[in-house]
Amino acid sequence: MNEILEKRILSDGVKDIIVSSPHIARKRKAGQFIILRIDECGERIPLTIVDSDPVKGVIRLIFQEVGKTTYHLGELEVGDVIQDIVGPLGRPTHIEKFGIVVCVGGGIGVAPVYPIAVGMKAAGNEVISIIGSRNKDLLIMESEMTDASDRLVVTTDDGSYGLHGFVTNALQNLIDEGIKIDLCVAIGPVVMMRAVSNLTKKYNIKTVVSLNSVMVDGTGMCGGCRVGYGDGTKFVCVDGPEFDGHLVNYDELILRQQAYIPQEKESMERYHKCRLDKLAEKEEG
Ligand SMILES: Cc1cc2nc3c(=O)[nH]c(=O)nc-3n(C[C@H](O)[C@H](O)[C@H](O)COP(=O)(O)OP(=O)(O)OC[C@H]3O[C@@H](n4cnc5c(N)ncnc54)[C@H](O)[C@@H]3O)c2cc1C
Ligand code: FES
Repeated sequence: MNEILEKRILSDGVKDIIVSSPHIARKRKAGQFIILRIDECGERIPLTIVDSDPVKGVIRLIFQEVGKTTYHLGELEVGDVIQDIVGPLGRPTHIEKFGIVVCVGGGIGVAPVYPIAVGMKAAGNEVISIIGSRNKDLLIMESEMTDASDRLVVTTDDGSYGLHGFVTNALQNLIDEGIKIDLCVAIGPVVMMRAVSNLTKKYNIKTVVSLNSVMVDGTGMCGGCRVGYGDGTKFVCVDGPEFDGHLVNYDELILRQQAYIPQEKESMERYHKCRLDKLAEKEEG
Protein backbone atom coordinates (compact mmCIF):
# COMPACT_ATOMS: atom_id res chain seq x y z
CA MET A 1 0.00 0.00 0.00
CA ASN A 2 1.09 3.56 -0.80
CA GLU A 3 4.10 2.31 -2.79
CA ILE A 4 5.26 4.45 -5.72
CA LEU A 5 4.97 2.18 -8.75
CA GLU A 6 5.83 4.61 -11.56
CA LYS A 7 7.43 8.03 -11.76
CA ARG A 8 7.77 10.49 -14.64
CA ILE A 9 9.05 14.03 -14.94
CA LEU A 10 6.55 16.16 -16.89
CA SER A 11 8.45 19.45 -16.90
CA ASP A 12 10.98 21.29 -14.76
CA GLY A 13 9.87 20.62 -11.16
CA VAL A 14 6.65 18.79 -12.08
CA LYS A 15 6.43 15.06 -11.27
CA ASP A 16 3.80 12.47 -12.15
CA ILE A 17 3.57 9.41 -9.88
CA ILE A 18 1.42 6.30 -9.82
CA VAL A 19 0.82 5.08 -6.28
CA SER A 20 -0.72 1.86 -5.02
CA SER A 21 -3.90 2.77 -3.10
CA PRO A 22 -6.69 0.25 -3.80
CA HIS A 23 -9.36 1.68 -1.44
CA ILE A 24 -9.03 5.23 -2.75
CA ALA A 25 -8.82 4.04 -6.36
CA ARG A 26 -12.14 2.22 -5.94
CA LYS A 27 -14.03 5.20 -4.48
CA ARG A 28 -12.51 8.29 -6.05
CA LYS A 29 -14.48 10.62 -8.32
CA ALA A 30 -13.37 13.60 -10.45
CA GLY A 31 -12.59 16.69 -8.38
CA GLN A 32 -11.54 14.83 -5.22
CA PHE A 33 -8.17 14.92 -3.51
CA ILE A 34 -6.02 13.09 -0.97
CA ILE A 35 -3.92 14.33 1.94
CA LEU A 36 -0.56 12.63 2.29
CA ARG A 37 2.21 12.54 4.84
CA ILE A 38 5.54 11.26 3.55
CA ASP A 39 6.82 10.06 6.93
CA GLU A 40 5.95 10.41 10.58
CA CYS A 41 7.76 13.76 10.87
CA GLY A 42 6.22 15.13 7.69
CA GLU A 43 3.51 17.77 7.23
CA ARG A 44 0.24 16.87 5.58
CA ILE A 45 -0.33 18.22 2.07
CA PRO A 46 -3.35 17.95 -0.24
CA LEU A 47 -3.01 16.77 -3.86
CA THR A 48 -5.73 16.18 -6.43
CA ILE A 49 -6.34 12.62 -7.61
CA VAL A 50 -5.67 13.15 -11.30
CA ASP A 51 -6.70 9.64 -12.31
CA SER A 52 -7.24 6.18 -10.88
CA ASP A 53 -7.45 2.58 -11.99
CA PRO A 54 -9.75 0.61 -9.66
CA VAL A 55 -8.71 -2.71 -11.27
CA LYS A 56 -5.00 -2.15 -10.70
CA GLY A 57 -5.73 -0.37 -7.40
CA VAL A 58 -3.64 2.71 -8.24
CA ILE A 59 -4.04 6.49 -8.17
CA ARG A 60 -2.18 9.11 -10.15
CA LEU A 61 -0.79 12.28 -8.54
CA ILE A 62 0.89 15.17 -10.36
CA PHE A 63 2.65 17.82 -8.32
CA GLN A 64 4.84 20.86 -8.64
CA GLU A 65 7.83 21.22 -6.34
CA VAL A 66 7.18 24.51 -4.53
CA GLY A 67 8.39 23.87 -0.99
CA LYS A 68 9.75 21.36 1.50
CA THR A 69 7.16 18.59 1.22
CA THR A 70 6.72 18.66 -2.54
CA TYR A 71 10.53 18.67 -3.02
CA HIS A 72 10.83 15.73 -0.63
CA LEU A 73 8.04 13.87 -2.47
CA GLY A 74 9.81 14.55 -5.77
CA GLU A 75 12.92 12.84 -4.43
CA LEU A 76 11.12 9.58 -3.69
CA GLU A 77 11.69 6.87 -6.26
CA VAL A 78 9.82 3.85 -7.57
CA GLY A 79 9.62 1.33 -4.71
CA ASP A 80 9.52 3.99 -1.97
CA VAL A 81 6.43 4.11 0.25
CA ILE A 82 4.44 7.17 1.35
CA GLN A 83 3.52 6.65 5.01
CA ASP A 84 -0.09 7.95 5.02
CA ILE A 85 -2.58 8.74 2.28
CA VAL A 86 -6.08 9.80 3.37
CA GLY A 87 -8.93 10.07 0.89
CA PRO A 88 -10.79 10.49 -1.26
CA LEU A 89 -11.57 13.89 0.29
CA GLY A 90 -13.78 16.77 -0.81
CA ARG A 91 -16.97 16.83 -2.80
CA PRO A 92 -16.78 15.38 -6.30
CA THR A 93 -17.29 17.69 -9.28
CA HIS A 94 -20.94 18.13 -10.24
CA ILE A 95 -20.95 16.49 -13.66
CA GLU A 96 -23.98 16.47 -15.96
CA LYS A 97 -24.80 17.44 -19.53
CA PHE A 98 -24.57 21.25 -19.48
CA GLY A 99 -23.90 21.82 -23.21
CA ILE A 100 -20.67 23.65 -23.96
CA VAL A 101 -18.16 23.42 -21.10
CA VAL A 102 -14.90 25.36 -21.19
CA CYS A 103 -12.16 23.87 -18.98
CA VAL A 104 -9.35 26.30 -18.16
CA GLY A 105 -6.10 25.07 -16.58
CA GLY A 106 -3.15 27.29 -15.73
CA GLY A 107 0.31 25.93 -14.81
CA ILE A 108 -0.01 22.92 -12.48
CA GLY A 109 -3.81 23.58 -12.59
CA VAL A 110 -3.93 21.57 -15.84
CA ALA A 111 -3.53 18.39 -13.75
CA PRO A 112 -6.66 18.90 -11.58
CA VAL A 113 -8.72 20.17 -14.55
CA TYR A 114 -7.92 17.03 -16.62
CA PRO A 115 -10.25 14.56 -14.78
CA ILE A 116 -13.03 17.14 -14.94
CA ALA A 117 -12.61 17.55 -18.73
CA VAL A 118 -12.69 13.75 -19.08
CA GLY A 119 -15.87 13.51 -16.95
CA MET A 120 -17.61 16.38 -18.73
CA LYS A 121 -16.88 14.85 -22.15
CA ALA A 122 -18.10 11.41 -21.02
CA ALA A 123 -21.36 13.07 -19.89
CA GLY A 124 -21.98 14.29 -23.46
CA ASN A 125 -20.78 17.89 -23.18
CA GLU A 126 -18.85 19.67 -25.90
CA VAL A 127 -15.58 20.35 -24.08
CA ILE A 128 -13.35 23.23 -25.13
CA SER A 129 -10.16 23.38 -23.08
CA ILE A 130 -7.70 26.21 -22.64
CA ILE A 131 -4.37 25.34 -21.04
CA GLY A 132 -1.65 27.86 -20.34
CA SER A 133 1.84 28.13 -18.91
CA ARG A 134 4.60 30.71 -18.62
CA ASN A 135 6.51 29.14 -21.54
CA LYS A 136 6.52 26.05 -23.79
CA ASP A 137 8.85 24.03 -21.54
CA LEU A 138 6.47 24.34 -18.57
CA LEU A 139 3.37 23.18 -20.45
CA ILE A 140 2.04 19.81 -19.21
CA MET A 141 -0.46 17.19 -20.40
CA GLU A 142 -1.08 18.69 -23.86
CA SER A 143 -1.76 15.36 -25.57
CA GLU A 144 -4.02 14.08 -22.76
CA MET A 145 -5.98 17.33 -22.76
CA THR A 146 -6.31 17.06 -26.57
CA ASP A 147 -7.88 13.61 -26.13
CA ALA A 148 -10.16 14.85 -23.33
CA SER A 149 -11.45 17.83 -25.33
CA ASP A 150 -13.33 18.55 -28.56
CA ARG A 151 -11.08 21.57 -29.05
CA LEU A 152 -7.89 22.62 -27.27
CA VAL A 153 -6.34 26.09 -27.16
CA VAL A 154 -2.81 26.50 -25.74
CA THR A 155 -1.44 29.80 -24.47
CA THR A 156 2.00 30.80 -23.25
CA ASP A 157 2.79 34.06 -21.44
CA ASP A 158 5.95 34.59 -23.52
CA GLY A 159 4.52 33.43 -26.86
CA SER A 160 6.98 30.52 -27.16
CA TYR A 161 4.10 28.17 -28.08
CA GLY A 162 0.43 28.51 -28.99
CA LEU A 163 -1.35 31.80 -28.50
CA HIS A 164 0.81 34.56 -27.03
CA GLY A 165 -0.97 35.72 -23.87
CA PHE A 166 -2.95 34.49 -20.88
CA VAL A 167 -5.74 31.93 -20.67
CA THR A 168 -8.16 34.85 -20.24
CA ASN A 169 -7.17 36.16 -23.71
CA ALA A 170 -8.11 32.78 -25.21
CA LEU A 171 -11.37 32.74 -23.24
CA GLN A 172 -12.22 36.25 -24.48
CA ASN A 173 -11.56 35.03 -28.04
CA LEU A 174 -14.08 32.19 -27.59
CA ILE A 175 -16.67 34.65 -26.27
CA ASP A 176 -15.94 37.00 -29.21
CA GLU A 177 -16.40 34.07 -31.62
CA GLY A 178 -19.98 33.94 -30.33
CA ILE A 179 -19.64 30.56 -28.60
CA LYS A 180 -22.40 30.20 -26.02
CA ILE A 181 -20.59 28.83 -22.97
CA ASP A 182 -22.86 26.99 -20.53
CA LEU A 183 -20.20 26.36 -17.87
CA CYS A 184 -16.61 27.41 -17.30
CA VAL A 185 -14.33 25.42 -14.95
CA ALA A 186 -11.08 27.17 -14.05
CA ILE A 187 -8.18 25.78 -11.99
CA GLY A 188 -4.77 27.35 -11.48
CA PRO A 189 -3.08 30.09 -9.47
CA VAL A 190 -5.55 32.18 -7.46
CA VAL A 191 -4.85 35.29 -9.55
CA MET A 192 -5.74 33.32 -12.69
CA MET A 193 -8.99 32.00 -11.20
CA ARG A 194 -9.88 35.53 -10.11
CA ALA A 195 -9.17 36.90 -13.62
CA VAL A 196 -11.29 34.17 -15.26
CA SER A 197 -14.13 34.78 -12.79
CA ASN A 198 -14.04 38.55 -13.36
CA LEU A 199 -14.27 37.97 -17.11
CA THR A 200 -17.08 35.39 -17.02
CA LYS A 201 -19.08 37.50 -14.55
CA LYS A 202 -19.36 40.24 -17.20
CA TYR A 203 -20.97 37.73 -19.57
CA ASN A 204 -23.02 35.93 -16.93
CA ILE A 205 -21.24 32.61 -17.55
CA LYS A 206 -21.58 30.15 -14.64
CA THR A 207 -18.05 29.49 -13.36
CA VAL A 208 -16.59 26.87 -11.04
CA VAL A 209 -13.12 27.21 -9.48
CA SER A 210 -11.15 24.71 -7.36
CA LEU A 211 -9.45 26.42 -4.43
CA ASN A 212 -5.96 25.54 -3.19
CA SER A 213 -6.12 26.97 0.31
CA VAL A 214 -3.68 25.82 2.99
CA MET A 215 -5.02 22.64 4.61
CA VAL A 216 -4.10 20.69 7.71
CA ASP A 217 -6.59 17.96 8.68
CA GLY A 218 -8.85 17.97 5.61
CA THR A 219 -11.91 17.04 7.68
CA GLY A 220 -13.41 20.43 8.61
CA MET A 221 -11.94 20.44 12.15
CA CYS A 222 -8.99 22.87 12.10
CA GLY A 223 -10.42 25.79 10.10
CA GLY A 224 -7.10 26.27 8.29
CA CYS A 225 -8.68 26.16 4.86
CA ARG A 226 -11.52 28.61 5.50
CA VAL A 227 -12.37 31.10 2.80
CA GLY A 228 -14.75 34.05 2.54
CA TYR A 229 -17.63 33.09 0.25
CA GLY A 230 -20.63 35.28 -0.52
CA ASP A 231 -21.77 36.68 2.84
CA GLY A 232 -20.28 33.80 4.83
CA THR A 233 -17.37 31.44 5.25
CA LYS A 234 -16.71 28.00 3.76
CA PHE A 235 -14.20 25.27 4.55
CA VAL A 236 -12.50 24.27 1.31
CA CYS A 237 -11.79 20.68 2.47
CA VAL A 238 -15.38 19.68 3.23
CA ASP A 239 -17.54 22.27 1.42
CA GLY A 240 -15.30 22.25 -1.69
CA PRO A 241 -12.74 22.28 -3.14
CA GLU A 242 -15.00 23.55 -5.97
CA PHE A 243 -17.01 26.73 -5.57
CA ASP A 244 -18.92 29.30 -7.61
CA GLY A 245 -16.04 31.48 -8.84
CA HIS A 246 -18.17 34.63 -8.65
CA LEU A 247 -18.65 34.35 -4.87
CA VAL A 248 -15.09 33.67 -3.67
CA ASN A 249 -13.21 36.36 -1.69
CA TYR A 250 -9.93 36.01 -3.62
CA ASP A 251 -8.11 38.79 -1.75
CA GLU A 252 -8.62 36.99 1.55
CA LEU A 253 -7.58 33.67 0.00
CA ILE A 254 -4.31 35.19 -1.27
CA LEU A 255 -3.58 36.69 2.18
CA ARG A 256 -4.25 33.37 3.90
CA GLN A 257 -2.03 31.50 1.40
CA GLN A 258 0.82 33.87 2.25
CA ALA A 259 0.37 33.57 6.03
CA TYR A 260 3.13 31.01 6.57
CA ILE A 261 5.77 32.17 4.07
CA PRO A 262 8.52 32.75 6.74
CA GLN A 263 7.95 29.27 8.25
CA GLU A 264 7.81 27.65 4.77
CA LYS A 265 11.08 29.35 3.84
CA GLU A 266 12.76 28.20 7.06
CA SER A 267 11.50 24.65 6.58
CA MET A 268 12.89 24.56 3.02
CA GLU A 269 16.27 25.90 4.17
CA ARG A 270 16.46 23.31 6.97
CA TYR A 271 15.59 20.56 4.48
CA HIS A 272 18.36 21.63 2.03
CA LYS A 273 20.89 21.90 4.86
CA CYS A 274 19.98 18.45 6.13
CA ARG A 275 20.45 16.98 2.63
CA LEU A 276 23.84 18.68 2.20
CA ASP A 277 24.96 17.37 5.62
CA LYS A 278 23.92 13.85 4.67
CA LEU A 279 25.83 14.09 1.36
CA ALA A 280 28.94 15.33 3.17
CA GLU A 281 28.65 12.45 5.70
CA LYS A 282 28.41 9.96 2.82
CA GLU A 283 31.49 11.40 1.08
CA GLU A 284 33.50 11.33 4.32
CA GLY A 285 32.38 7.83 5.27
C1 LIG B 1 -7.57 20.59 -2.70
C2 LIG B 1 -6.16 20.87 -3.15
C3 LIG B 1 -5.63 20.17 -4.19
C4 LIG B 1 -4.32 20.41 -4.61
N1 LIG B 1 -3.84 19.70 -5.67
C5 LIG B 1 -2.59 19.90 -6.09
C6 LIG B 1 -2.06 19.12 -7.16
O1 LIG B 1 -2.73 18.24 -7.73
N2 LIG B 1 -0.78 19.36 -7.54
C7 LIG B 1 0.01 20.31 -6.92
O2 LIG B 1 1.16 20.48 -7.30
N3 LIG B 1 -0.47 21.06 -5.89
C8 LIG B 1 -1.74 20.87 -5.45
N4 LIG B 1 -2.21 21.60 -4.36
C9 LIG B 1 -1.29 22.53 -3.68
C10 LIG B 1 -0.32 21.75 -2.76
O3 LIG B 1 -1.05 21.18 -1.70
C11 LIG B 1 0.77 22.69 -2.21
O4 LIG B 1 1.59 23.10 -3.28
C12 LIG B 1 1.63 21.99 -1.15
O5 LIG B 1 0.88 21.80 0.02
C13 LIG B 1 2.88 22.80 -0.85
O6 LIG B 1 3.60 22.20 0.22
P1 LIG B 1 5.18 22.37 0.32
O7 LIG B 1 5.61 21.94 1.67
O8 LIG B 1 5.86 21.74 -0.83
O9 LIG B 1 5.38 23.92 0.14
P2 LIG B 1 5.27 25.07 1.24
O10 LIG B 1 6.59 25.72 1.35
O11 LIG B 1 4.62 24.54 2.48
O12 LIG B 1 4.24 26.03 0.56
C14 LIG B 1 4.41 26.65 -0.70
C15 LIG B 1 3.04 27.28 -1.04
O13 LIG B 1 2.06 26.22 -1.17
C16 LIG B 1 0.83 26.54 -0.48
N5 LIG B 1 0.58 25.56 0.61
C17 LIG B 1 1.38 25.28 1.65
N6 LIG B 1 0.88 24.33 2.46
C18 LIG B 1 -0.30 23.99 1.93
C19 LIG B 1 -1.29 23.05 2.32
N7 LIG B 1 -1.17 22.25 3.40
N8 LIG B 1 -2.41 22.99 1.55
C20 LIG B 1 -2.51 23.74 0.44
N9 LIG B 1 -1.58 24.63 0.02
C21 LIG B 1 -0.51 24.76 0.75
C22 LIG B 1 1.01 27.92 0.09
O14 LIG B 1 0.40 28.84 -0.78
C23 LIG B 1 2.50 28.16 0.11
O15 LIG B 1 2.86 29.48 -0.06
C24 LIG B 1 -3.52 21.39 -3.95
C25 LIG B 1 -4.06 22.11 -2.88
C26 LIG B 1 -5.36 21.85 -2.48
C27 LIG B 1 -5.95 22.61 -1.33
S1 FES C 1 -8.20 21.61 6.43
FE1 FES C 1 -8.85 21.82 8.47
S2 FES C 1 -10.87 22.58 8.26
FE2 FES C 1 -10.24 22.26 6.23
